[in-house]
Amino acid sequence: MLHSSLGLLLSLSTAALAAPLSGRYTSAISLANLAQQKVLHDASPIFGEYEQTSAHTSEWMKKYPDSTKLVHMNIPGTHDSSTWNYSDATQSALKHVTDLDGVTVYPPEIYRCQDKPFIDMLNLGIRVFDLRFAFDPTNSTLVFWHGQALQSETATVEDVLFGFYKWLEDHPSEAVLLSFQYEGSTTLHAANDAAVQLSMFNILTSDHAKKYFVQTQGQLGTLGEARGKITLLRRFDLDQLAESYSEQLPGLHFSPSLWTDNDPNIALTYNTEKNLTAYIEDYYGLDSPIGSGAALNIQWKYNATTAHLLKAATQYPNSLFWSFASSNYDADTPPETPEIMALGNGTGYTPRGGVNHLLVPFLKNMTGKRVGIVMFDFFETPNTLVPALLSL
Ligand SMILES: *[C@@H]1O[C@H](CO)[C@@H](O)[C@H](O)[C@H]1NC(C)=O
Ligand SMILES: *[C@@H]1O[C@H](CO)[C@@H](O)[C@H](O)[C@H]1NC(C)=O
Ligand SMILES: *[C@@H]1O[C@H](CO)[C@@H](O)[C@H](O)[C@H]1NC(C)=O
Ligand SMILES: *[C@@H]1O[C@H](CO)[C@@H](O)[C@H](O)[C@H]1NC(C)=O
Ligand SMILES: *[C@@H]1O[C@H](CO)[C@@H](O)[C@H](O)[C@H]1NC(C)=O
Ligand SMILES: *[C@@H]1O[C@H](CO)[C@@H](O)[C@H](O)[C@H]1NC(C)=O
Repeated sequence: MLHSSLGLLLSLSTAALAAPLSGRYTSAISLANLAQQKVLHDASPIFGEYEQTSAHTSEWMKKYPDSTKLVHMNIPGTHDSSTWNYSDATQSALKHVTDLDGVTVYPPEIYRCQDKPFIDMLNLGIRVFDLRFAFDPTNSTLVFWHGQALQSETATVEDVLFGFYKWLEDHPSEAVLLSFQYEGSTTLHAANDAAVQLSMFNILTSDHAKKYFVQTQGQLGTLGEARGKITLLRRFDLDQLAESYSEQLPGLHFSPSLWTDNDPNIALTYNTEKNLTAYIEDYYGLDSPIGSGAALNIQWKYNATTAHLLKAATQYPNSLFWSFASSNYDADTPPETPEIMALGNGTGYTPRGGVNHLLVPFLKNMTGKRVGIVMFDFFETPNTLVPALLSL
């Protein structure tokens, strides 16, 4: 045991940090580095194995001046980001946990919206992450869920934040925006109670969060102010705690009570004093008749997304636009998974591909126009999608 854990630390130190070992002694590695390796390893079921790579998309924000306002930028994001490793194997490994509570867990393709780890997302240009938290089944730590699907029993919200901190240290030109939302209906007895809210509050006001989160409240500033840091997009309330808690959190507050469900055209005022409104498209449950099939549903979602992107290009130039090109599982007969919606169902059924393929020519045609934040499922396919949004 001792031998293999030392071996692990050594291989992590060379792979993750590329730090040559001086002398024969592992004691040459500082405790700070060992602690960093441990936390990155703990985060890896959600964050992915940390590695340093450079791709032309890993520092795309370098080409914009510090004075650029974030609301004027086109920024790619991923929907339900933590679902990338959710497979039959993950599900059966974690099922015992949720089984205790007697909830039904559906097949993995219903929950899965991504297939690349966070580290790859970051290096491929993704800067906005949609993160869904709730307590683990023992109510002791905050972990990641998509509905009833527990994404990892061990990688906590706090562990994964350290992955982002490390990446930002390595890429100080970049700005990351994290959307945090309380995920309901995880287990039979789960509740968004004071203990959950206090736990999230403590994470977001810890010393590490104060160092790495932009501390401005209620408005988005410039890229220069956001570089090397995380901007919080807070899609949760602290309604079980005293008002003073909420007042201490940084970032923008998108109260779930104002975020109307399944709406292609939300206008959400996140700062009443300054009258700052975000325009959001979050139309995921399509109203198409049962039996419409993949091709028609893909067109339906594409229409809602592009209508909103055109609005972003032509209206409210100084307001935040946030569009979801992603889908949820559609109980059509036969059903469409998020993957079928994003990527299509084979050339025989969806000859033009999925929403992602249809968006490439649309986004190329929008070059030079502001479309805002756009959230994707399976964002890396086709590999021209994110570059089209970034005009790379
Ligand atoms: C992905 O899930 C599988 C199955 O549970 C697991 O063996 C593997 O370690 C996971 N990958 C990471 C990076 O955690
Ligand atoms: C977790 O918290 C919920 C809600 O307060 C409670 O009903 C449940 O019994 C707790 N579970 C455990 C394992 O303590
Ligand atoms: C708030 O801003 C919107 C445009 O974003 C405008 O239509 C509305 O009149 C403003 N309200 C106030 C009270 O200034
Ligand atoms: C997808 O294609 C398969 C055949 O490959 C077909 O059986 C299924 O019905 C299609 N699904 C949808 C949603 O069109
Ligand atoms: C999508 O929009 C196009 C162009 O406006 C229209 O012809 C088509 O009927 C729409 N399709 C769906 C499924 O809404
Ligand atoms: C390109 O965008 C313009 C509006 O900016 C629109 O009128 C035109 O139809 C679009 N062309 C294509 C091929 O999407």
